[in-house]
Amino acid sequence: MTFITDIVSTNVHESSVSAIKEMTMLSAKVEGAAMLTWGLPSFRTPEYIRQGVKDYLDNDVDAGKYTLPDGLPALRNLAAKKYNENTGIEVDADENVMISAGNMQALNTLFHTMLDLDDEIILTDPCFASHIQQINLFSGKPVYWPLDENNNWSLDVDLLPGLITKKTQAIVLVSPSNPTGKIFSREELIRVGEIAKQHNILLIIDDPYSDFLYENREKYFNLASVEALKQHIVYLYSFSKSYAMGGWRLSYMIMPAELKREAIKVHDATMICAPRIAQLAGIVALSQPSNHKQEFEAVLAERRELITQRLANVPQVFFSQKPEGAYYVFPKIISAHTNSKEFAIDLLYNTKVAVTPGSAFGPSGEHHVRMAYCVEEDVINLAFDRIEKYFR
Ligand SMILES: Cc1ncc(COP(=O)(O)O)c(C=O)c1O
Repeated sequence: MTFITDIVSTNVHESSVSAIKEMTMLSAKVEGAAMLTWGLPSFRTPEYIRQGVKDYLDNDVDAGKYTLPDGLPALRNLAAKKYNENTGIEVDADENVMISAGNMQALNTLFHTMLDLDDEIILTDPCFASHIQQINLFSGKPVYWPLDENNNWSLDVDLLPGLITKKTQAIVLVSPSNPTGKIFSREELIRVGEIAKQHNILLIIDDPYSDFLYENREKYFNLASVEALKQHIVYLYSFSKSYAMGGWRLSYMIMPAELKREAIKVHDATMICAPRIAQLAGIVALSQPSNHKQEFEAVLAERRELITQRLANVPQVFFSQKPEGAYYVFPKIISAHTNSKEFAIDLLYNTKVAVTPGSAFGPSGEHHVRMAYCVEEDVINLAFDRIEKYFR
């Protein structure tokens, strides 16, 4: 213990780097590891976006400057238009749209804006690990809403009212889900919307994956398209996966005007604005036609078939339900083990295969692992060749 321990806040000290990154960092030190830890797609940012950004750098004298805290008006207008195309809901680029440095930063802004000590946010369980961490960092309390594993991780809406207290501020929804790949049904989501409205709770829709739906496109429903919920919904769209722009750090937030007026204070005080160069990339991304999303989805569909088939070949190790969307599988560990973290570490050191322990995604994630199949097929095959050999 040094004086550093004393000066670090308890919240930060008690928090840790997410298990996703922890496993990725551990596996980076294992030479030749087959990494299925990180949801980092293997795709390159599409050519038209790279070219458009080069043009801006050459010709836009303002390209290196700050923007307003809520982002470039041209990008906010495009986001409002896109949102209207996708949901049928009219929003105002000035009143309702804010540009952020990725959905992580957007969520950080929201939690910072909303949370007082012990305020509660309801998270599906399992959920995205960073949601838990962010809420804890702002002294809030994650409240776990267990998904129904027997029903391929669907929402159990009957449980929801019992989780709501005077301290509940919001429910976070991700569909298709990370880590399970589940697409929540229209009926379930509408019921969740009704409950949230009745209790005056915000619904935060974190959406990095709705472009990856495979044969389940018909099943997908965006709750943000319900006009009656307009004042209760914050919708976050990430460019990271659909446009292979994870490193650019870009997303847009659509939210009630009153909330935007509060959240913009946080944005201004913490980051001034999302990087302008990424915002310019976003303008190019949204203003030019491109079929790259269909191409990405087709490649991911093949990888999903491959990993589903490879998992089926090791029933003594994993039990897996086929994911519906996104690019993760969340199999249950069948072989003898103590907990998912030890299993993941043993797997890494014994087989050079890196997966993320399910416990990182909430209590219901224990005894599972998450595998991200957005990597090249060779990596998936290498990982499963090693797993098959080790567990033979
Ligand atoms: C559910 C969820 N939210 C947010 C993020 C991060 O998105 P961004 O890159 O836009 O910050 C991820 C990335 O894996 C995710 O799975």
